[in-house]
Amino acid sequence: MPKDSSDHIDRILEQWRRERPDLDTAAMGVLGRLFLARDLADAMLAAPLAERGLQPGWFDVLAALRRSGSPYELNPTDLMHATMLSSGGTTKRLDRLADSGLVERRADPDDRRGTLVRLTRRGKGAIDRAVEAHLVNEERVLRSLAPAERRTLDDLLRKLLEELDRDRPITSIAEPPEPVLLRGRGVVIRPLRVEDVDTVARIQAEPGVARWWGPPDVADLRRQAAGDTEEVAFAILSDGEIVGFIQYAEEDEPDFRHAGIDIFLAEHAQGRGLGTEAIRTLARHLIHERGHHRITIDPTADNARAIRAYEKVGFRPVGILRDYWRSPEGTWRDGLLMDLLASELGPT
Ligand SMILES: CC(C)(COP(=O)(O)OP(=O)(O)OC[C@H]1O[C@@H](n2cnc3c(N)ncnc32)[C@H](O)[C@@H]1OP(=O)(O)O)[C@@H](O)C(=O)NCCC(=O)NCCS
Repeated sequence: MPKDSSDHIDRILEQWRRERPDLDTAAMGVLGRLFLARDLADAMLAAPLAERGLQPGWFDVLAALRRSGSPYELNPTDLMHATMLSSGGTTKRLDRLADSGLVERRADPDDRRGTLVRLTRRGKGAIDRAVEAHLVNEERVLRSLAPAERRTLDDLLRKLLEELDRDRPITSIAEPPEPVLLRGRGVVIRPLRVEDVDTVARIQAEPGVARWWGPPDVADLRRQAAGDTEEVAFAILSDGEIVGFIQYAEEDEPDFRHAGIDIFLAEHAQGRGLGTEAIRTLARHLIHERGHHRITIDPTADNARAIRAYEKVGFRPVGILRDYWRSPEGTWRDGLLMDLLASELGPT
């Protein structure tokens, strides 16, 4: 691991030691390094795949089909398990892969309503070449470790995983939603697509948006478009043009179940009622289709326009979240927690 990264974690631990000398932060150090290593390795492994035209997550799907052996065919459920993806995420990826000619779908002869997904000849060629490059890169990721050190690390991680797997909660993770298209007055909200990402990133970079959201993180937007994040992301369209972005995240712990919304609109689309309508449309979906009784939103406390827009939908202020958000200037800013109960959703 690069020296800088360990320094960063050491600094965090040092701050904790100074502020709370009574706490033992050893576990925080180990896990912090584990997570950082994963993030850095992910980035190193993704870049060469992207150069080969493989979008984030494609490698996993193609590899699952390839290693299943001839005829390199699986049903979407097996693929979902093999790639640890949600069904919504799998469907989206398969659409893109089919558009690119790397996989093809056919009706399952044994299941009238089912489909099978198969590698095309092009897909097989692509994954065979990609996996070779991928292995070379994996070697690069581990190059600082001698063979004996790798075996030790492997043994330790195996031991850790065995224990964690035993302790895993038996409740299954809620099935994420299928993509939907939502219509409001003057706005359409549809699942974010990879090809929307550049437009959305340009909008987020506009000063009137970035001051409330910070600059765009294109890699994260791509992951959202591929359905690989907890948040469910949508493009907001008006007159067929993308004018903004809206997302929700769900808390599925039954006793605290609710959903949170975030939004931004391009500067030219602000102040025309579109934001209010987009929030109302998504809130309606979350309440009526996703069964939520409570929705939250947390604008910066001095974002008067956003607060006014959310009040128009029916959100009420709950309280100030002190030093809640680090703004692009690097200062901590207060947030305002607002919530809306299902019965308070205003008229359309
Ligand atoms: C916040 C946002 C989503 C609101 O959507 P919008 O379409 O612009 O909002 P609307 O036009 O529906 O409503 C805005 C309301 O705020 C009012 N308003 C505008 N500027 C205001 C200000 N400085 N102070 C108080 N109210 C203000 C408007 O008059 C309007 O209320 P009204 O209909 O009662 O007259 C949008 O402006 C936006 O994306 N802004 C930039 C990014 C951002 O702030 N995102 C939210 C982060 S939580």
